[in-house]
Amino acid sequence: MCGIVGYIGSKDAYPIILNGLKRLEYRGYDSAGICLYNNGKIASKKSKGQISKLEKKISKLKSFSGFMGIGHTRWATHGEPNDNNSHPHSSNSNELHIVHNGIIENYSSLKKELVDKGFVFYTDTDTEVLVNLIEYIQLKEKIKLGEAVQLALNYVVGAYAIAVIDIKKPDEIVVARLGSPLCIGIGDDEYFIGSDVTPFLDHTKNVIYLNDGEMAIIRNHKQTQYRKIKDDSFTNPTVEKLEIDLAKIQKGGFDHFMLKEIYEQPKAVIDTLRGRLKTKSGIIKMSGVDDYIDKFLAANKITIVACGTSWHAGLIAEYMFEKIAKIPVEVEYASEFRYRNPVINKSDIIIAISQSGETADTLAAIKLAKSSGAFVYGICNVVGSTISRETDAGSYTHAGPEIGVASTKAFTTQMTVLYLIAVKLSKSKGVISSKKYREYIYELSSIEKKITKVLGTDNKVKKIANKIKNSTNCLYLGRGYNFPVALEGALKLKEISYIHAEGYPAAEMKHGPIALIDKNMPSIVIATNKLYYDKILSNIQEIKSRKGKIIAIVFEGDKEISKIADETIEVPETIAALTPFVTTIPLQLLAYHIAVKLGKNVDQPRNLAKSVTVE
Ligand code: AGP
Repeated sequence: MCGIVGYIGSKDAYPIILNGLKRLEYRGYDSAGICLYNNGKIASKKSKGQISKLEKKISKLKSFSGFMGIGHTRWATHGEPNDNNSHPHSSNSNELHIVHNGIIENYSSLKKELVDKGFVFYTDTDTEVLVNLIEYIQLKEKIKLGEAVQLALNYVVGAYAIAVIDIKKPDEIVVARLGSPLCIGIGDDEYFIGSDVTPFLDHTKNVIYLNDGEMAIIRNHKQTQYRKIKDDSFTNPTVEKLEIDLAKIQKGGFDHFMLKEIYEQPKAVIDTLRGRLKTKSGIIKMSGVDDYIDKFLAANKITIVACGTSWHAGLIAEYMFEKIAKIPVEVEYASEFRYRNPVINKSDIIIAISQSGETADTLAAIKLAKSSGAFVYGICNVVGSTISRETDAGSYTHAGPEIGVASTKAFTTQMTVLYLIAVKLSKSKGVISSKKYREYIYELSSIEKKITKVLGTDNKVKKIANKIKNSTNCLYLGRGYNFPVALEGALKLKEISYIHAEGYPAAEMKHGPIALIDKNMPSIVIATNKLYYDKILSNIQEIKSRKGKIIAIVFEGDKEISKIADETIEVPETIAALTPFVTTIPLQLLAYHIAVKLGKNVDQPRNLAKSVTVE
């Protein structure tokens, strides 16, 4: 997600927009830009890097001012972060300028049509296509900016929040939104624009929250018009009074970024699937895989390299790829892989998973694999990150910025991408029936509803957290797909509450860990497996007979385990391969609430960095 800011009024727009962008830096920070209208000219500056870098560049200019302008802080989705791809983007005539938050799914077909009409493109972004589409329509229909924007957006498929200015009409800014947030601050004969209200919180408490499918032609000194994009009909939005404080808003009203990101998971999965899963036609579109499908089909083995939570996603992928696509998989800690002289064949495929795209060990593992001639596929969350540029192909998870050090939505979206690849390959290899294939993609297309439902267990999990928050050790147990989930749950607890925790395959209990069990040792057992239900039931009974405290995660309607567990968290049933999507959420919430109750720094736990760029 990106941040957009705008201002029109009688004050100098530059400081207002610059400070507004700083307030939105949490929404994206790989590049930034501002353009101002001043006396018939547009002054524009943009650059890769954080807003402070842009500010330094502008400070070197003799003057940079105006009474109207727009600004943008970017989280790249199309086109890697560099000066050229930064926003604002201008039309071919250099008269229209736009900032955009969102994804135009049909940008390549629109771009082709515009090129055929003589338009020239200078960036890799979908946003530049949009501003030239608006220009094309404005010229063709000989209409004003507002009408051209309204018509153009009816050709667009995707999500957007935009602000557009036209050098020919310096007394208006046109804004519109569909699928991305946008609000308008109403001042005293001045207007503010923001992706949320933080950019103008100090200037006005009067705000209009545009709804999806709505637009506004914001005019200084004249009546601002509010319309529907679909049919240009007028709307009459309510002006609301702001009551919330700054810190809360940047965290979306949550107390911590981690909790916000846990709750963002349904939307993050939708964003990861956007443009990739065509449920009706049953097509899984992934250019990174499509372009190299022969390599994937010829591979004797897939090796996954990653660290931490990303490594846990890799372990889940091992079960997915072997069970669904019948491809042998090995999962390696990148830090071990890079030094142990692994046997890497040219026909091997290496999949590197990394949220940040900057983890040193994973990067080193990639370089080693490439030096042996293997094909390396990257799964990253940060567009243009080092790993995404080092790998031969890849897929972005589109989870949006993950600020909390403890990874949550990145994990869920990594699993989403890996599942798409496994199911896609199973069809290409002809190892899946069309009935099973349809079941798999249909269940994925609706999994975000089940994630939303699991988030509803939050209060119950919070109560359980209160009961075990003073434990010194915790055991996490799971079987099959839930074994990596047990590891992930243990890591979440360790890294933010500093309570020691271990994840184990449940069957491993009798090979040692059961010696740990006593009344002070809570065991969190992920017991949703239908395949091994009786076995996990006996594992639980073994713990119970040694006075261990059991917290069980079960499918809704479970009859037996919920009778013997001390606490039960019910999650909606789904297919085995998607079970981690529902069983991980309560573990994320459990770790979060325990850490909060212990007064820990949840978003920035001690000794940890969000991205481990050193060995
Ligand atoms: C997960 O909660 C941790 N913050 C950490 O294990 C993280 O997953 C690991 O450092 C890998 O980071 P990456 O995904 O950015 O490569």
